[in-house]
Amino acid sequence: MATEEEILARMKPGCICKGIKLHRIVEAIEDGATSYEEIAKVTGIGGGSCGSKRCGKKVAMLLKKKTAITPDAA
Ligand code: FES
Repeated sequence: MATEEEILARMKPGCICKGIKLHRIVEAIEDGATSYEEIAKVTGIGGGSCGSKRCGKKVAMLLKKKTAITPDAA
């Protein structure tokens, strides 16, 4: 069960340009997406006025974090 902190974190903006919450990105990663392109295809992030700079950084951070905690990732 998610903690209150985790729930609040997931309600934060993921892609501000497209109005997509962070939890959608997290769910896409949990469902197996392993790249920005895969996450964008599933969630609809990207292609906004920032040129994906803002959400791209968040996705990179989340993917790096997942790789760091996945024991068989190499
Ligand atoms: S924040 Fe995602 S395209 Fe700008």
